Order: sequence, then structure tokens, then C-alpha cells
Amino acid sequence: MNNLILNPNINSSWLFRADILMEQDFSQVPNQDINADATDPKPIIIQFESFQLDKLLIRRLIPRNPLRDPPLDQTCLTYHNSGTNVPFYHPKVKALAFLHEWDPNTSEGTVSIHYHFFDDIDSSPKLIRTGLHLISTLHKHGEGAKKGYVKRVHHDTIIPQATVQSTYARLKKKYARKLIEEWVETTDPIKHCFEDLGIAAFLIELWAQMYRDTSFPGFVDIGCGNGLLVYILRQEGYSGWGFDARKRKSWDKFADRIDPASEENTGQSIRQLVLLPAILQDKPQQAPDEGQRADPVDTYSCDCI
Ligand SMILES: C[S@@+](CC[C@H](N)C(=O)[O-])C[C@H]1O[C@@H](n2cnc3c(N)ncnc32)[C@H](O)[C@@H]1O
Repeated sequence: MNNLILNPNINSSWLFRADILMEQDFSQVPNQDINADATDPKPIIIQFESFQLDKLLIRRLIPRNPLRDPPLDQTCLTYHNSGTNVPFYHPKVKALAFLHEWDPNTSEGTVSIHYHFFDDIDSSPKLIRTGLHLISTLHKHGEGAKKGYVKRVHHDTIIPQATVQSTYARLKKKYARKLIEEWVETTDPIKHCFEDLGIAAFLIELWAQMYRDTSFPGFVDIGCGNGLLVYILRQEGYSGWGFDARKRKSWDKFADRIDPASEENTGQSIRQLVLLPAILQDKPQQAPDEGQRADPVDTYSCDCI
């Protein structure tokens, strides 16, 4: 390629040669400034995402017959894209292709996968495993389509998937690390944190839709467990509170005081209460078993659940 850039006459017999007006090599000294002001003509520089500029060169194409064809100045840019820039979820290849070959006479065919490797990253057992996985998934879905498989369960019918996903990603970035590091329960922090961040993302987007034209009425998390969901929602500016029959260690961290003037219930944002539906309140109360409940717990009456 370099040779063709320096000798355009290889491709065109109308040209004598190329005169190199400017040349700058960034591959050895990567962070040097582009010397654009010092030259005339000025180079035309284009940046491509995840590509690094290696070499910058301005050439003047010198025609054999300058009376008929004027010279032409060109910027020639050489970039490289290292495989290390490929994200983790993508196989470390420059390109991949599925090839479907089909013989209509025998009604038989094959599907194959083809990799175009980076110069410095060759095939590996992992790339072969990924290739086999991709091709077997394609085969499975192809067989399903052939048999007339129709998706029966439709997800994301209430809120678009991308809307919830981007809110979920935002919440994860903001809260996940700290919540997991400071987890005080014996339960799995990863499971609980990601689950509640996901529920919070869904509720935030659901409420944005439901209360688009009215003010948010507040929430109550009945049986809030560790109180994480209450905490996240309140941190995000949604007024509300939660309660649970059993007090949890996390409450010391997650509960905050509610402003009595603005909230329905005064006191803490997470409280120890037992929901007693009205239907049960009419029946004679049974005494709890010995040792079943150590402390007396307030009840929260409710006509419906
Ligand atoms: C399956 S856990 C769910 C906890 C939390 N919402 C979560 O998703 O992690 C059910 C919770 O409801 C609470 N609970 C069950 N019956 C209750 C009642 N009548 N009043 C208050 N809390 C109750 C339990 O103590 C328990 O923490």
C-alpha cells in the first residue's frame, strides 16, 4: 500500500510520479501534534472511531502532460485498528460472515462461518468455540422458523425495552458498586442489588408514563424486606415509604426521616408494621405461638391488597 501511495504511476500511465509534500509518522511517536499549520497545502484529517492514525502524508500527483492534466494534491492517511479495541462481548476478529450455500436440485445446503482475523490475533480455541456456538444457534433458529415457530410470549409491551434498559444502566452506574460493597445482610448482594435496580428502573419509567400529566401521588412498598427498593426510589426523588413485618439490619442504612408535613405517614421511610387486611380483622385474633414474635408490632390496616 505504501509503495502504491508513493508510486501512483503504477496504477496510471497518465502519471509520472508523486511528489511527497509532507510526511508525518505517528506509529513510533504516537502523541505528537499534527503539523498542519506548517504546510501548504494543509492535510485533510479524518478521525474514525477506534482507529488510530499511523501515518499522514500529502502527495502531489504529477501528470505526464501538465498542459492537459493539472497536478492534484492528496492527503493519504494510514490507520490501524487493534483487536484490543474490540469489546469483550464480540469475538476478537476484524469481521465475520455466515455463508449459506444451497443446492436447489437436492434441496440440501450448508451454513458456514468465516472469520477475517486481525494481523496480530490469530485463531484460538475460544474463537472456535464462539464460532460453533454462533452457527449452532443459527441452525436451531433456522429449524424453528422452518417448523413455523411463532413467538407466543410478547415482552416489553408496557414500556419500550430500550427506555427501561437505559434507565437501568444509569442506576447501575450510580448505585451498584457502593450498594454491593456496603451490603450488611447475609443474603446475596449481587442478586438483590441488580434485581432491585431493575425493578426501580421499570417503576421509574412506568410512573413517568402514568403520571405524565399529574403529580406523583407517592408509593408504599408493602413487605419491603431489606428496604433497598424504597431507598433507591427515594434517592431518585420519588416520595414514598415501605414497611415489613420483620425488621432488617439494612434499615439503619436505607431508612431516612420523612418530612411529616409532606408525607402521609410521619416517621421513618421504612417501618416495622404488619399488614392486616380488613377481612382478617373481623375474625377473632389468634394468639401467636410462644417465641414466634418477640416484640409487639404495629399493624397497618388495609381494605384490599
Ligand atoms: C418474599 S419477601 C419480599 C421482600 C422484598 N419485597 C423483596 O422483593 O426483596 C416478602 C416479605 O413480605 C413480608 N411480609 C409478609 N407478610 C406481611 C404482612 N402481613 N405485613 C408486612 N410484611 C409482610 C415478609 O416479612 C417478607 O420480608
